Amino acid sequence: MTHTVPDAPELELHRLMNLHDIETEGQARLSVNALEYYRSGANDGHTLRGNQVAFTRLHLRPRMLVDVSHVKLETTVLGLPISMPIGAAPSAFHGLAHLEAELGTAQATQAAQTVMTLSTLSNTPIEAVSGRTGGRLWFQLYLYRDRERARALIQRAQAAGARALVLTVDAPELGRREANERLGFSLPPHLEAPNVGTREELARLEGSGSHLTRYFAGLMDASLNWRDLEWLRTVTDLPIVLKGILTGEDAALGVEHGAAAIWVSNHGGRQLDTAVPGIEALSEVVDAVAGRAEVYLDGGVRRGTDVLKALSLGARAVFLGRPVLYGLACGGAAGVERVLALIREELRLAMVLSGQTDVQKLSEKLVQWGR
Ligand code: FNR
Ligand code: LAC
Repeated sequence: MTHTVPDAPELELHRLMNLHDIETEGQARLSVNALEYYRSGANDGHTLRGNQVAFTRLHLRPRMLVDVSHVKLETTVLGLPISMPIGAAPSAFHGLAHLEAELGTAQATQAAQTVMTLSTLSNTPIEAVSGRTGGRLWFQLYLYRDRERARALIQRAQAAGARALVLTVDAPELGRREANERLGFSLPPHLEAPNVGTREELARLEGSGSHLTRYFAGLMDASLNWRDLEWLRTVTDLPIVLKGILTGEDAALGVEHGAAAIWVSNHGGRQLDTAVPGIEALSEVVDAVAGRAEVYLDGGVRRGTDVLKALSLGARAVFLGRPVLYGLACGGAAGVERVLALIREELRLAMVLSGQTDVQKLSEKLVQWGR
């Protein structure tokens, strides 16, 4: 019953003016099961809200009388050329949003010429998604306790053409999303999780509470620690991105253990509630990394000015989580394309209005924390 999607009229995507509109419309098109899964944060949602609020505490210091008739948004991530410093974060189960599922997201990121990070827990196999991304695919890894299973998954991702492995390090167990526990979040019967063959394993989890939480506790490796990075490096030559770092201490350790990039994230407020907003943690991570690796950020990025602020503080790129899911819900690939087009244009205009001409040449002098 909670898997039923409400009837909603066809959307005119061009009427959706910003990512907030897309969130509202996207949410209205989801089943209760999907809606609560996508929108929830852990516990009281302090970090979930804090991610967006923190951007409003950071103010821009725009410069005037600069020739901004040409603005450059292109950049690279780990050598991969992208048309703008904004990519898709990994999120599980795009099939809850739209029939096109991860293929829709891939088509949109390909059209926008940016990078898509595919979750271990996608509803579409890596091999099928890979062909749709125009070669701009990263694979997000959840490490299974069964190392042979993990190895096979990594090798599949590499063979399918993934250009980096994004190891999520903030989820030894899932945070407690209380709405999902209450409703008993589950994967609807028509959806698969083919990277890991979990349809049966998920279906077998009878009983109350979130099925996904129990799946995680049953199969993922809560013992994952810094030593496992060495094992990972024996399994793959792909560059390793550590996703979920929030301190300078861990960023430095990550670089010492060979990470090619540090992805500042609190998992969209879904893991440790009251954890610091990513944008507040960014500067200490950038300082600790000291140019030895790339730094990315996600969490609460909803406006072009958010992107500009993160880049000014030293992020090379930012990633969108929920906006991609809500875009998909609004219209499959076309909805995600709208999300990416809107935020690209917002970033361009924010640069014009603050006297900036190149996303690779922003400085922390462009921002100040409000007092
Ligand atoms: C996620 N996220 C996530 N991260 C990850 O490494 N693997 C995953 O499978 C998922 N799954 C997932 C599902 C859903 C529904 C959400 C909302 C998020 C976290 C994601 O990559 C990202 O860190 C946050 O979503 C960023 O915050 P915003 O943009 O949603 O505010
Ligand atoms: C989530 C996991 C799957 O946030 O990353 O739901």
